[in-house]
Amino acid sequence: MIYVKKKRKNSLSFNTDFSLHTDFDTASIPSHVAIIMDGNGRWAKKRMLNRVQGHRKGAETVRTIVECCREIGISILTLYAFSTENWQRPKMEVAALMSLLAKFLKSEQKNMLDNNIRLNAIGQIERLPEHVRQALHEAMTLTKNNEGMLFNLALSYGGRAEIVRMVRDVAIKAKEGRIDPDSITYEVVSDHLYTKGMPDPDLLVRTSGEMRISNFLLCQIAYTEIFVTDTLWPDFSKEEFLRILQNYQHRERRFGSTNN
Ligand code: IPE
Ligand code: IPE
Ligand code: MG
Repeated sequence: MIYVKKKRKNSLSFNTDFSLHTDFDTASIPSHVAIIMDGNGRWAKKRMLNRVQGHRKGAETVRTIVECCREIGISILTLYAFSTENWQRPKMEVAALMSLLAKFLKSEQKNMLDNNIRLNAIGQIERLPEHVRQALHEAMTLTKNNEGMLFNLALSYGGRAEIVRMVRDVAIKAKEGRIDPDSITYEVVSDHLYTKGMPDPDLLVRTSGEMRISNFLLCQIAYTEIFVTDTLWPDFSKEEFLRILQNYQHRERRFGSTNN
C-alpha cells in the first residue's frame, strides 16, 4: 500500500510494491502533471494487432494512471488524448477513438464520483461528435463539485489553436474597449487559455520516446520539467510513473534564477 500524507475517504486499494520507492517524498509531489500518451499504434503493431486494439489497451492505462495520481495526491492531471492534428488520421481510426472515448467517459463516471475526481475538458470540444460531447457533458456535470483531483482531458487540443483563440478573444475585448492593450500582461494571456486558473504543469511526461512536444500546452510548459520514457503508453505502469516522480523530486528547478 502506498503511504499518503492523509488517508483519503474512498481511496482505491493500491498494490504497488513500495519497497522499491522508499525515498519517494510525499511532501513534494508535483501539483500538476501533464502526459503525452503516445505509442498505442506501435504497441499494437509489435503484437500484430490493429491500431484500435492499441488504443483500447491505452484506455486501461489511463484508468491506472488516473487512480495512481488521485491516490498520491496530485491536484491536476492533464492527459493529451487527441490533438488538433489527429483529425487527419484515417476516418476509421478517428471514429474508433471517439467511440472509445465516449465508452471510457461512461464507464468511469462511478469511479470519478467515488474518488472525488472532477472531470474537465480542454480543446475544441465543439468539433467532437455529438455522442462524445454528450458523454463529456454528462461526466463533467456529474463530477462538477468534486475537489479531490482535477482530471483534464485534452481533446481536439492544439497549443497553436489555443493561442489563436486567445489572441482573437483578447483582440475582440480590446476592440470593444473592455481591455486596454497597454495593460495586457501574461496574466491576461493566461486568463484566456483553456487552462485559465490552473497552475502550469510541474512535470510533463511523454511515453514512446519521441523528443517532441507535438503542439501540447505550448504556453504552459515554459518551465515544466520534462521526462521522456521509451515505454509505449499501453505498457506504462504505476511503478514507472512513481520512478518518474522520484526523478522529478531530485531535480533542481531554477526558473531562470540562480540556486542561492
Ligand atoms: C497515441 O498513440 C494516441 C493518440 C495520439 C490518439 P498513437 O496512436 O500516436 O501511437 P503511435 O505513435 O502511432 O505508436
Ligand atoms: C501526440 O501524439 C498527440 C497525443 C498523444 C494525443 P502524436 O502521435 O499525434 O504525435 P506525433 O505525430 O508523433 O508528433
Ligand atoms: Mg503517436
